[in-house]
Amino acid sequence: MTGDIILQTKNLGKQYKSRWAVHHLDLEVRRGDVFGFLGPNGAGKSTTIRMLLSLVRPTEGEVFLFGWSLAKDREKALQSIGGIVEKPDFYPYLSAHRNLEIVGALNGGASRARIQEVLELVGLASRASDKVKTYSHGMKQRLGIAQALLANPEFVILDEPTSGLDPQGMKEIRGLIRHLASDQNKTVMLSSHLLNEVEMVANRMAVINRGELVTQGEVAALLEKGEKCVTVQGSPVEKVRSVLSRQRNIGKVLEKGDAFEVTMPFENIPELARALVQEEVDIQALVPRRSLEEYFLSITENEPEESKN
Ligand SMILES: Nc1ncnc2c1ncn2[C@@H]1O[C@H](COP(=O)(O)OP(=O)(O)OP(=O)(O)O)[C@@H](O)[C@H]1O
Ligand SMILES: [Mg+2]
Repeated sequence: MTGDIILQTKNLGKQYKSRWAVHHLDLEVRRGDVFGFLGPNGAGKSTTIRMLLSLVRPTEGEVFLFGWSLAKDREKALQSIGGIVEKPDFYPYLSAHRNLEIVGALNGGASRARIQEVLELVGLASRASDKVKTYSHGMKQRLGIAQALLANPEFVILDEPTSGLDPQGMKEIRGLIRHLASDQNKTVMLSSHLLNEVEMVANRMAVINRGELVTQGEVAALLEKGEKCVTVQGSPVEKVRSVLSRQRNIGKVLEKGDAFEVTMPFENIPELARALVQEEVDIQALVPRRSLEEYFLSITENEPEESKN
């Protein structure tokens, strides 16, 4: 049934030496979800996915897949899961078709027809007999997805499937993910470091930072929740400041260089724009931002976590 919980992690954690790559992580993915797993570089996305796919052992906590404990009933837990972590490895001198045959053979065999089917699904059928070393980055990404789909799993876990792709390539992968969810009845979990990408494709998401869960829920609700902030930039700055001080419905005003970060309802943006124009302010920017977006920008704009020790 749609809505059943098919992945649950409880207090999941992985420690490398003294450092927790993932800590106290409780995730919940429901049947039918396109679940976005969002976090900046080094947040713990790949480590989490490795634990879900049973490629590394958790230091603490538990993973349940389709109600089966991954620690106690590994085979049953994994029987309906397919996934890729980071860049999938292929034999460069063999064709895509042959590579999938090898992957299939490692997992009990894949029929010719099924290999053909997944290659069609990811749009590689016409290049199936070309050597993988002649593939573009986007084609390799798609071959990785084909590999994850080979055994026709109900739950597909993809680690940054659009990483390194150009906007057109990203769009194609998003289309493929939507197709998997809506026409092939798959549940998809995908990690990403781009909020707008998750927003475009996922219905639910979790945000992770420095190994810990920041928030989890419906994408639309999370993006609507909380205070709304508008970046206002114009000259002369004194006039902008004075208009903001007189405007109604304005909350906090923070000055950042020559820009103002203003907490206010988005409905009042036109009124603010009119007031600025009346005062002959040259407006350079009037940019609405939602709080999650704001938050996500603030964590991703920080120095990389490697340098913080
Ligand atoms: N095998 C390992 N040994 C030691 N530390 C590790 C190992 N794998 C990951 N880490 C550390 O765990 C943290 C999380 O890494 P992880 O690869 O899970 O992040 P990520 O969210 O996938 O990042 P990215 O967006 O860069 O792929 C990092 O600090 C990383 O250095
Ligand atoms: Mg990663």
